[in-house]
Amino acid sequence: MPARQEEPKMVSTLLFAAGLVSAVAVYKYVSALQRNIALARSTGLKYVVYPIHPLNNLWQLTAGLILPLVYCVFPASWLKGWILPLQREWSYRTNQEFFDWAGSESVIIVAPDDVMLYTESAEVISQVTARKEAFPKDIARYGLLTFFGQNVVSTEAAVWRMHRRVTAPSFNEKNAAHTFAEALKQTRGMLNYLFNWELETKDSTGTIRTLEHDTMVWALNIIGYVGFGLRLIFPGEKLPDDPKLAKYGSLEAPPGYDLPFAQSLGTLLERIVAILLIPGWALKTLPFEFTRMTRMAKDNYRKYMEEFLAVKKEEVRKGDHERVGMDIMGELVRSVYGEKDSKTGAKLTDDEIISNAFIMTLAGHETTANVLHFTLVHLATNPSAQRRLQKDVDELLGDSDPLTWDYERNINALLASHIGACVNETMRVMPPVTVIPKITSPSSPQSISIKGQKHVLPAGLSIAFYLTSAHRNPNQWPTQPSKRTGKPTDLEEWLPDRWYRDTFKAASANTDDHGEDETADYGGYKGSDTSAALYRPVRGSFLPFSDGPRSCLGRRLAVVELAAALPAIFQKYSVELAVDEWATDEEVARMSVEEKREVYAKAQESSRAKIAAATAIITLKFQGGEHVPVRIVKRGKERFVRDLEVV
Ligand code: HEM
Ligand SMILES: *[C@@H]1O[C@H](CO)[C@@H](O)[C@H](O)[C@H]1NC(C)=O
Repeated sequence: MPARQEEPKMVSTLLFAAGLVSAVAVYKYVSALQRNIALARSTGLKYVVYPIHPLNNLWQLTAGLILPLVYCVFPASWLKGWILPLQREWSYRTNQEFFDWAGSESVIIVAPDDVMLYTESAEVISQVTARKEAFPKDIARYGLLTFFGQNVVSTEAAVWRMHRRVTAPSFNEKNAAHTFAEALKQTRGMLNYLFNWELETKDSTGTIRTLEHDTMVWALNIIGYVGFGLRLIFPGEKLPDDPKLAKYGSLEAPPGYDLPFAQSLGTLLERIVAILLIPGWALKTLPFEFTRMTRMAKDNYRKYMEEFLAVKKEEVRKGDHERVGMDIMGELVRSVYGEKDSKTGAKLTDDEIISNAFIMTLAGHETTANVLHFTLVHLATNPSAQRRLQKDVDELLGDSDPLTWDYERNINALLASHIGACVNETMRVMPPVTVIPKITSPSSPQSISIKGQKHVLPAGLSIAFYLTSAHRNPNQWPTQPSKRTGKPTDLEEWLPDRWYRDTFKAASANTDDHGEDETADYGGYKGSDTSAALYRPVRGSFLPFSDGPRSCLGRRLAVVELAAALPAIFQKYSVELAVDEWATDEEVARMSVEEKREVYAKAQESSRAKIAAATAIITLKFQGGEHVPVRIVKRGKERFVRDLEVV
């Protein structure tokens, strides 16, 4: 029968077609790989080949399924260093291992779909950040952040210069002073809230499981002020009298809105990843509570912004220029609609004003909150560091009411004290932004020098700074064997003392790298908390705020916020790990010092394990509701951290 005869023919035709398609695919795959290998080889740098690029979205989505299979099939000794970049958070979790295995601080990751230079080298990083034109920001990787319009984070070249010129003037010392004062107010609000508004009468907050969220509210409230000139409050606080401000500060939705301003902004920031991933139509139509709430937050936020914009434009039109505090959005409107606009040549559209105001809140909110959150957790985990910090706070500020602290009088001393050291140390071991993407200029190859040797990087090559590796690279940081773990370096540990050079002088004198030169100039630390006393990292080895012309605009503000919050907390209080998991309050009350030490050691171990498991989604933080429970207690009423010589 003819039909019978045709069947094998059809099958063979299909097979042939399939074979052809796969042959073409294989050919394309192999030639792309060859091309990329040749590209990598031309640089003279070490390179490592992968079947798919570790940052490929497809890999990111499927890694969790495929990696266990890979481990089943291949012996671990064979996969060793090679497999690391394919794992999530490899740099934070495994430190130097990959670069050590590859035998270089700068390694090109080659796959058919992408080529990328991974580096932890201060020498490479400092050259790249210094030469902005040669190595622009890889803004393709930020395309996501433009859903309200273009902004200073998402642009490059001339457009970026325009955005930066308009936004930068807000970041001045006068506004830093306003931010300091606002941060002090918000810290008091947070403490009152954590003590359930019984600050003066209670000895302890009880166990707090929401510190991450609370520090986020703290940072959001400050950003509300910095970005929009608003007074936002913690639940229970009194609203300002000014009805104009009260409307936005209110914890209830004003007429015409479903959500209060802070909640719409907070929800938007919290769900930014979901908003970027879920298509607009799905967000609009899906009937789930999550999509409904997210949509509501986004729509409400947009409406607030448009109303804001109208109000500010009106102010400018009326010449109502008087500014009480800080207000980036107001400044942007003024620079576009005010008389100044002719001078700066600013041409932001309304959408771009809204987008810049939003990006400031995004850039400055979670980052700063995380540093406060983790500094508190680290201080609770390291009682001796906490005692040293309190000693500095006592010496600098005594009993004075935080609301009387003065920016100009206090800020430098605070930053040169254990406060500054703790903030730096948190940003060293847990930089909120863990990877910074750059690219060599798409129009021309660029040469860099490494250990005296010239290397030419092809045009358009992606570069990733792995901060978590660079910040803990023993070739770039003075170090000594770990007292706690016995490892050859203590760079994985949170030890703020390292920022005082005398502690490390002996160690750094032994290293034969360029890190030594930098410190050698400043040898002989004898003074107290002067800035000459502090360790200055080698350029490119410590860049939580990036570096060079494209570095963080909000750096000063962030540091100022933290330098206000920490002394305002530790002047009167201590932060302790909660031990509820191992002992009740009654049991603790009956414990001997030795028993307390034992139970606290368990809490410390648990805290350290959780910190080690943090993951970067936008910023490095706990995921999935993970938290380190703590208690904030009046000084003198501590159960653990005052007396225990816990290390
Ligand atoms: C501890 C807190 C903070 C950290 C760790 C941090 C970190 C960074 C980093 C690493 C970059 C460079 C990103 C890149 O090149 O890919 C950056 C850029 C930026 N940050 Fe921050 N930031 C912090 C706080 C803030 C605050 C409080 C604000 C504003 C109020 C802010 C506003 C910005 C802006 C506008 C940029 C873009 C600058 C430009 O591209 O010209 N940041 N930040
Ligand atoms: C923190 O790091 C910065 C940047 O390297 C440095 O200038 C500052 O002195 C450091 N602060 C302390 C207290 O060591």
